[in-house]
Amino acid sequence: MVPARSFLFIMLFASFASCQVQTNCTLTASGGDDSPAIEQAFRGCVEVLIPETENLLIGTKLNTTGLSKVHVRFLGNLTLNPDVDYWRDNAFNVTYQENSAAWLFGGKDVILDGEGTGTIDGNGQTFYDARIANDSLRPPHLMLAYKGDNLVIRNLNIRQSPRWTILVHSSKNVLIHDLNIRSRSDTWALGRESNRETDGVDIYDSSYVTLHSLRISNGDDCMSFKPNATNIFISDIWCNGSHGVSVGSLGETDGQKDIVRNVYVNNVTIQNSENGPRVKTWGGAGRGYGYVDQIVFSNFQHENNDSPITIDNCYKTDSDECLANPSNMTVSHVYFTNQHGTASGKYGGTGVALSCSVGKCTDIHLDNVNVTAPSECGATVYANSHLNVQGNVAYKFVSDADTYGAGGILTNNSTDSGVTCSNGQVISGSS
Ligand SMILES: *[C@@H]1O[C@H](CO)[C@@H](O)[C@H](O)[C@H]1NC(C)=O
Ligand SMILES: *[C@@H]1O[C@H](CO)[C@@H](O)[C@H](O)[C@H]1NC(C)=O
Ligand SMILES: *[C@@H]1O[C@H](CO)[C@@H](O)[C@H](O)[C@H]1NC(C)=O
Ligand SMILES: *[C@@H]1O[C@H](CO)[C@@H](O)[C@H](O)[C@H]1NC(C)=O
Ligand SMILES: *[C@@H]1O[C@H](CO)[C@@H](O)[C@H](O)[C@H]1NC(C)=O
Ligand SMILES: *[C@@H]1O[C@H](CO)[C@@H](O)[C@H](O)[C@H]1NC(C)=O
Ligand SMILES: *[C@@H]1O[C@H](CO)[C@@H](O)[C@H](O)[C@H]1NC(C)=O
Ligand SMILES: *[C@@H]1O[C@H](CO)[C@@H](O)[C@H](O)[C@H]1NC(C)=O
Ligand SMILES: *[C@@H]1O[C@H](CO)[C@@H](O)[C@H](O)[C@H]1NC(C)=O
Ligand SMILES: *[C@@H]1O[C@H](CO)[C@@H](O)[C@H](O)[C@H]1NC(C)=O
Ligand SMILES: *[C@@H]1O[C@H](CO)[C@@H](O)[C@H](O)[C@H]1NC(C)=O
Ligand SMILES: *[C@@H]1O[C@H](CO)[C@@H](O)[C@H](O)[C@H]1NC(C)=O
Repeated sequence: MVPARSFLFIMLFASFASCQVQTNCTLTASGGDDSPAIEQAFRGCVEVLIPETENLLIGTKLNTTGLSKVHVRFLGNLTLNPDVDYWRDNAFNVTYQENSAAWLFGGKDVILDGEGTGTIDGNGQTFYDARIANDSLRPPHLMLAYKGDNLVIRNLNIRQSPRWTILVHSSKNVLIHDLNIRSRSDTWALGRESNRETDGVDIYDSSYVTLHSLRISNGDDCMSFKPNATNIFISDIWCNGSHGVSVGSLGETDGQKDIVRNVYVNNVTIQNSENGPRVKTWGGAGRGYGYVDQIVFSNFQHENNDSPITIDNCYKTDSDECLANPSNMTVSHVYFTNQHGTASGKYGGTGVALSCSVGKCTDIHLDNVNVTAPSECGATVYANSHLNVQGNVAYKFVSDADTYGAGGILTNNSTDSGVTCSNGQVISGSS
């Protein structure tokens, strides 16, 4: 690639009526780092056009926050510089979970519209491979929708994110729709694709966020609702190969109060995933507190998911530890409604696995739930510990913490030599 001067063509138009200068700009590729020109255009223009013929390079960290009234018509491509060392040393710090990001995008009355052709390529494969070589490496999140208000991101293709794809952070009134997100790896580590932590859309410390018409094929949560995501409306989503549509994880940090409230998720097709709709909160000593309240997961079509419906109030917490130091996160008014399709059989007959610390989960409803494992795995298992399930499938639940483990880990105490489910997984004496 030949580095060249960055060209920013600016056309100036005076609005005679108001005497305000309005500017429409066209961005073209410089052949080198285009981040400075992108920042200048997003900050200085009313409308920015990136034509379909252009492939711009995010060569260095890109700060387009604090924008005001800009409409980006992003028809071309935007490619992230795959310099692993550069991003390790220079990406923006993200306080939440001490992560980092390549691009901050935010402001008031801002539209980023790919009009169907716009494509962001995160060059993820380089980062996935670097992480196989060095497990301590934490590639940057691709994009933060940061401090946005009345912010729209739409009609875009996003490929191969190094880590999380879009994190909505400290924002309100955000609309994200018609995205096609695909982060898949050619390489394998620990027996699975190396596209680790390529979350689709995550929401943190934000309110009034609407997501609809998203296609996401990735290697971690399809969507997740992190601390202080409230008033979230989601519909018409396809998820593949993910870790589920997750509330959490929450309550990880000692002394920190986490809230997730008023989340409505409707019409999701979810396939080949570790989980479907899920709530995950931490237990154990030295953790945080708070609550999950008013969550609706309705109309999910499942296909080949390992643990289709999950509440884990002792997420990543040893079951003995969680008994000794119960979770300080309460989970209430959670509705799993109209859930149909298949489980993979990876965990035997598991269809639903709900696990809570004593008294921490209340008003958990399951209605019209029929997610079945392959017949070789035996009858579908509806497992819960320490909660009373309500709804028209409540009668299917065995309430027995001994059998199902207070830590939410399904155990099978059968002395039988085990059953082999259709995916080849052998269910033996214990898990
Ligand atoms: C900028 O472009 C838009 C449509 O692409 C047009 O409606 C508007 O008039 C243009 N603004 C100026 C100042 O020419
Ligand atoms: C943009 O990316 C798409 C998909 O990878 C590709 O087909 C197209 O040629 C690229 N366009 C440019 C201008 O690089
Ligand atoms: C990004 O740019 C805005 C506006 O110039 C500035 O206020 C902010 O501090 C910058 N953020 C970072 C992380 O550099
Ligand atoms: C991010 O934080 C780390 C550790 O606190 C610091 O060393 C680094 O300089 C920061 N990076 C940036 C770009 O501010
Ligand atoms: C692995 O990555 C970590 C975090 O970036 C870094 O501190 C460490 O030096 C790297 N190790 C090697 C062997 O490159
Ligand atoms: C989340 O909200 C709670 C309650 O308002 C507050 O105490 C906490 O600091 C917030 N956390 C974050 C990360 O904003
Ligand atoms: C559900 O979402 C899919 C896209 O994933 C869409 O094609 C379909 O029309 C939606 N169904 C309903 C009933 O809205
Ligand atoms: C869906 O996920 C599976 C399993 O991770 C993967 O093998 C497959 O390529 C994905 N399909 C699409 C269309 O992304
Ligand atoms: C649990 O959270 C409450 C606040 O809701 C706090 O007062 C209490 O100390 C916490 N308990 C533990 C064991 O951390
Ligand atoms: C549950 O789904 C299975 C397989 O899709 C189907 O055979 C069965 O009739 C359904 N059961 C109910 C009660 O709807
Ligand atoms: C099942 O096994 C677990 C340990 O794997 C044990 O704690 C529990 O007591 C057993 N339950 C029954 C009913 O045997
Ligand atoms: C436990 O294993 C037996 C066969 O060994 C099987 O019939 C049963 O469905 C399994 N239960 C669970 C919860 O996996």
